[in-house]
Amino acid sequence: MDTVIKKIMHDDSDDEIYEQAAEILKNGGLVAFPTETVYGLGADALDEKASAKIYAAKGRPSDNPLIVHIADKKDLEVLSCDVNDMAVKVAEAFWPGPLTMILKKKDIVPDSITGGLGTVAIRMPSHPVAARLIKTSGVYIAAPSANISGKPSPTKAEHVIHDMNGRIDMIIADDTVDIGVESTIVDLSEDVPTILRPGFITKKQLEDVLGEVKVDPAVMGNVADGIVPKAPGMKYKHYSPDANVVIVTGDSDKVVGKINELCELRRKEGKRVGVMTVSEDAGCYNADKVVDMGSRCDEALAAKNLFAALRSFDEDGIQYVYSESFPTDNVGQAVMNRLIKAAGHTIIKV
Ligand code: TXA
Ligand code: MG
Repeated sequence: MDTVIKKIMHDDSDDEIYEQAAEILKNGGLVAFPTETVYGLGADALDEKASAKIYAAKGRPSDNPLIVHIADKKDLEVLSCDVNDMAVKVAEAFWPGPLTMILKKKDIVPDSITGGLGTVAIRMPSHPVAARLIKTSGVYIAAPSANISGKPSPTKAEHVIHDMNGRIDMIIADDTVDIGVESTIVDLSEDVPTILRPGFITKKQLEDVLGEVKVDPAVMGNVADGIVPKAPGMKYKHYSPDANVVIVTGDSDKVVGKINELCELRRKEGKRVGVMTVSEDAGCYNADKVVDMGSRCDEALAAKNLFAALRSFDEDGIQYVYSESFPTDNVGQAVMNRLIKAAGHTIIKV
């Protein structure tokens, strides 16, 4: 399949791009587009054949449900049979924005996009390209991240092109993806709201609006320990580059020493090694590639850099990546959640 790739120019010439993308979506095709979190791979959410193409293009397991993107809060009532007080408050506080809510679904939402669950994930993105695409097409857009299943989510057009060129109808390029990790997912379908996936909107922010908020134990836990995540997608190996990723955590000096020791061992074996570090330690490493994720104080920058950093190791043929751990007060929790998955839970404590 030939994939049309169009760059948003932020002038009148964009009209044509939105028209073309809208036609593709209305006719059951696939369009990748930027959002404020990561790039999404969109199809008409209510068209089962169209959403089936998403699973095929990504190689995604069919029990892993999709998020439905809307452009108007009123559409909650179309998709959910139980838009409760919590949902109204959360939409008021965080939409449009990087927040997905899980609610009981109406029959109009096909089982094939909810993995057979009685609930549906809904998000109203704030990114102007995403919002305009939903409005122009007039369809609700089911969109997972626009990566091959299991790989790091795309935060740049080049990542989408790498994974999806030839597999989908169109890619809208606009490198204004800002946050860099996927939306916070909160389950509002039961009595106590529960975070199923951490993101830019934190537990504290949700508590300010909702009162008590729980966190699914699988968020930082280990599926191998028998904790099954409520978001089906969180149980799969995820976000991984081809390289083997290991996290080293503990006292800063010891972490640097341990990582250098591991790098040296691997290099003696003839392997290419990479390091992911905070700026403060970036000068301390001997490796084939050192990626500086920004200052230890800047969790948002680490989030923005994370997926591009993971992908960059593959571009350089790195076989082993040793990563420092990052602070988890705010969006850093989402960073560590993704990094732990990328590392397949391999964490060395020093
Ligand atoms: O920021 C984002 O959320 C991006 C952009 C494109 O909007 N989308 C995204 O989609 O991250 P995806 O498919 O990569 O992740 C969706 C997650 C999966 O872990 C899935 O299992 C979970 O949402 N999910 C979807 N519907 C659900 C439901 N009804 N109940 C529980 N989890 C659900
Ligand atoms: Mg994803």
